[in-house]
Amino acid sequence: MRKKVTVVGAGNVGANTAQKIAAKELADVVLVDVVEGVPQGKGLDMLESAPVEGYDVRITGANGYDETAGSDIVVITAGFPRKPGMSRDDLLLANYEVVKSATEQAVKQSPNAILILVTNPLDAMCWTALKVSGFPRERVIGMAGVLDTARFRTFIAEELGVSFENVTAMVLGGHGDTMVPLVRFTNVSGIPLSELTDQATIDRMVQRTRDGGAEIVKYLKTGSAYYAPAASTVEMVESILKDKKKVLPCAVYLQGEYGFNELFVGVPVKLGSKGVEKIYEIKLDEGEKAALKKSADAVEELVSVLKKQAK
Ligand code: NAI
Ligand code: 2OP
Repeated sequence: MRKKVTVVGAGNVGANTAQKIAAKELADVVLVDVVEGVPQGKGLDMLESAPVEGYDVRITGANGYDETAGSDIVVITAGFPRKPGMSRDDLLLANYEVVKSATEQAVKQSPNAILILVTNPLDAMCWTALKVSGFPRERVIGMAGVLDTARFRTFIAEELGVSFENVTAMVLGGHGDTMVPLVRFTNVSGIPLSELTDQATIDRMVQRTRDGGAEIVKYLKTGSAYYAPAASTVEMVESILKDKKKVLPCAVYLQGEYGFNELFVGVPVKLGSKGVEKIYEIKLDEGEKAALKKSADAVEELVSVLKKQAK
């Protein structure tokens, strides 16, 4: 039997995620959105490209959750995106209500699903989904590190004029301005980045990575990035559905790891059919530890607002 993935939110990220899942024949897809007709129309449009592109999966759209029953994965992209001048954190309370309601309804239909959160502010939305679903932490995962790392890899490959594929990197921390690109763990086919370029260039690429989301918002003006976010989400979906056990930076609920408790923070994990199958606790130097702490503190601040809201 084919796998089944529900994508909640048929906007830019959601629709592109659904389309990429179908194009890779990973699963049947159900697109859910509150706007009448939009998930149905986009779903049908994607289905009609199946004969041309040659994929054999079903894509359907719905405004409710009955059709999502028995999903293996539920990706939540529903919510409001950033506009120019807005930070991800400005979205907090509005998207809290959206993610709360989407999670409640989705998990009723798919109690064994793995949840992948995309909606911003990402780490706080993961916390919302974990609390509302009551799922174990292995099955509530946030997408951000894969995207932030992809941006860092892009800038490095372009700067050095090498293949994107050759660049390995790791961006940890919360999905915000304080994210932590780990230069010490970044290399090009095994050659440390520090041997390939000077510190000023590295600093510039690190800053551009931190501002990566805002750079796209500035261009688009009416919304935020979606092609790379969708591709990043699908890499996680694929690793889970195919049990590939890829090691990827994802937001997970830490319970003591890295010295953080009951907080979602982006760290390297192994993603397989059970969801998060291992959290890698890598040895950080003092500067990296301080940067990760600053990033985690920013997440904690947002979650404390939600805790008051949830009372
Ligand atoms: P969008 O505005 O294109 O799509 C959002 C969709 O959610 C809309 O179609 C809207 O009708 C729908 N929606 C709103 N409330 C809903 C509900 N209660 N149930 C179901 N659907 C609902 O926005 P876009 O660009 O797709 O971004 C979606 C979210 O993902 C935003 O919060 C954005 O900030 C976030 N994002 C996160 C990234 C990450 O790295 N974690 C990267 C890119 C975007
Ligand atoms: C991004 O990083 C807005 O979080 C979104 O593009």
